[in-house]
Amino acid sequence: MTKPIRVAVTGAAGQISYSLLFRLAAGELYGPNQPIRLQLLEIPQAMGALEGVVMELSDCAFPTLDGVDIYDQPGAAFEGIQAAFLVGSRPRGPGMERSDLIQVNGPIFVGQGRALNHADSAVRILVVGNPCNTNCLIAMNNSDIPQDRFTAMMRLDQNRAMGMLAAKANRTAASVSHMVVWGNHSNNQYPDFENARIDGKPASEVINDQTWLRENFVKDIQNRGAVVIKARGASSAASAANAALEHMKSLINPTPGDDWYSAGICSKGEYGVEPGLIFGFPVRTDSQGNIQVVEGLPMSDWAKTKFDFVLDELRKEREVVKDLLR
Ligand SMILES: NC(=O)c1ccc[n+]([C@@H]2O[C@H](COP(=O)([O-])OP(=O)(O)OC[C@H]3O[C@@H](n4cnc5c(N)ncnc54)[C@H](O)[C@@H]3O)[C@@H](O)[C@H]2O)c1
Repeated sequence: MTKPIRVAVTGAAGQISYSLLFRLAAGELYGPNQPIRLQLLEIPQAMGALEGVVMELSDCAFPTLDGVDIYDQPGAAFEGIQAAFLVGSRPRGPGMERSDLIQVNGPIFVGQGRALNHADSAVRILVVGNPCNTNCLIAMNNSDIPQDRFTAMMRLDQNRAMGMLAAKANRTAASVSHMVVWGNHSNNQYPDFENARIDGKPASEVINDQTWLRENFVKDIQNRGAVVIKARGASSAASAANAALEHMKSLINPTPGDDWYSAGICSKGEYGVEPGLIFGFPVRTDSQGNIQVVEGLPMSDWAKTKFDFVLDELRKEREVVKDLLR
């Protein structure tokens, strides 16, 4: 029988995990012939709720689920894992600034970065918990795992952008490709319609409305998370879980055709982003599993101002957490 692959999920009793775990257990990441073992991490106060989730996983009788282990400490939870979904973090409370959130959640990722040293050498790490780019930076700087294994989630932003362009062009999302969201998973991200394509043609030729693209589209994508919270009374969960799953699939499978996907990865200086920042880039995975930034995409002067603004935001976030970076 095929050896199970170990997958860790933190924040496992939270709302994103309530969608993600069931899709992982059903075999959506590695396929129907590969058993997986879930290693779930929560804080001690949430262990009761997590036990309920484990009961429901059992009640699904998934053929691909080898077993579930639960932990309230990161070390053992990351033992031998090949994929880590770091979802758990404290949500933003009333009156909290982004910098407060960074300071509250930063220490979580110091401990988890160290604990990731228990992972398999092939591990791929996705940070979802916000502020995800900077939490990823902290975890990467506190771990001995190679830097190219650490990634932050821009995929929900990419998918939102694809969905919105498709709706405007009266197509399905499948016709939209080459979508990158540059920079930070924040409301200063830059969803790049200039390089996106619809049915293989430049998106701005198909949607011939620069005012809508520059104003409505960009702002709507930047603020989509807040609009979902207002409508639903809770933050995006199923769409975030879907994005996390697609992100991890993109890391472990070669990227089809000449397309790319959006991911926050450690800069090596591409596009003038200083090395070491976790920045949302257009990325491809090759047949050996190496991930590389797609270089040389053109940008108008207008787009460059958006790019520089979000780059500056990430530099400032790094400054806030500099004491957590070893
Ligand atoms: N990057 C993205 O695109 C994106 C999209 C949506 C949400 N998010 C972020 O994902 C995170 C989770 O969202 P959610 O809706 O599932 O939140 P949630 O509050 O429902 O769940 C978070 C869970 O994390 C747990 N947790 C807190 N500290 C932990 C720790 N140290 N170790 C392990 N678990 C811990 C909590 O107990 C809770 O169960 C939030 O930070 C949210 O802002 C990111």
